[in-house]
Amino acid sequence: MGLDLKHCSVVLTGASGGIGAAVARALSGAGARLLLVGRDAGRLAALARTLETHPDQPRRVEVLAADLTTSAGVEAVRRVALARRANVLVNNAGVASFGRLDALDDAHILQAVTTNLVAPMLLTRALLPGLLAQRSAAVLNVGSVLGRLALPGFSVYSATKFGLRGFSEALRRELIGTPVRVQYLGPRVTETGFNAPEVEAYNRKTGAAVDHPDDVAAALLQLLRDGAAERFLGLPEKLAVCVNGLAPAALDGAFKPHRLALSGA
Ligand SMILES: NC(=O)c1ccc[n+]([C@@H]2O[C@H](COP(=O)([O-])OP(=O)(O)OC[C@H]3O[C@@H](n4cnc5c(N)ncnc54)[C@H](OP(=O)(O)O)[C@@H]3O)[C@@H](O)[C@H]2O)c1
Repeated sequence: MGLDLKHCSVVLTGASGGIGAAVARALSGAGARLLLVGRDAGRLAALARTLETHPDQPRRVEVLAADLTTSAGVEAVRRVALARRANVLVNNAGVASFGRLDALDDAHILQAVTTNLVAPMLLTRALLPGLLAQRSAAVLNVGSVLGRLALPGFSVYSATKFGLRGFSEALRRELIGTPVRVQYLGPRVTETGFNAPEVEAYNRKTGAAVDHPDDVAAALLQLLRDGAAERFLGLPEKLAVCVNGLAPAALDGAFKPHRLALSGA
């Protein structure tokens, strides 16, 4: 059983981004109470102004500027989430990482792992006591298809999203019998400002399908409503994820176009 979004108090990280803003609009439309988190206070405030407000419940949308890679940022979110009796945490904030491993420097790798993997783990741990005190709660981690199917050029990014999936699976099993459900959503390429021009070129060369952020938002709300453990967007991607799970080496030869695209050929 999933959640009735009208009665949910949601903490949404990465709310100012392309997918986050679409999710915020969809959740607001469904009547959820929202705490929108990102680093850029101006972008969060602008988004909050565009969301439907309920005159009878004037504090349905709040914003909080916090850097989730810092303990002060995590603590700030924990405090407000507890005060708002949050029962849903959507770990959506993330940064991109693309390129041959030998071209990525230490700071880039650490930033990607810290933002995409360590921050959601620490934030989840911080909010967990409050979530466990609710009648029904969820932690929904926004991963990626690249968190089950790793491609050339995405070694670091895939490591973060595979890690987030492992975290989600273990925690889901750890929390069986409690009110907290743990879920993982794996979008495929989505049209936001996330992907740098070289990634867009790679995606064009390799024929990657591209979704609109509203498609991801719809899938995310559906996941919260139906309570499934995980879901990936796109039928070919779902199939590739299954095959990769059963026999990953069988697919190793399938990514020559990706290697060529990565080397700029
Ligand atoms: N777009 C795609 O192709 C795609 C595909 C699959 C999965 N995803 C995943 O979907 C999620 C959202 O991606 P998107 O496309 O919406 O990207 P986006 O438009 O770049 O948004 C990223 C969001 O993360 C926030 N953020 C980044 N670092 C942060 C930090 N240290 N502390 C707090 N917030 C931080 C950003 O806000 P501030 O900059 O204001 O902090 C922004 O709101 C990510 O986890 C991404 O990995 C994206």
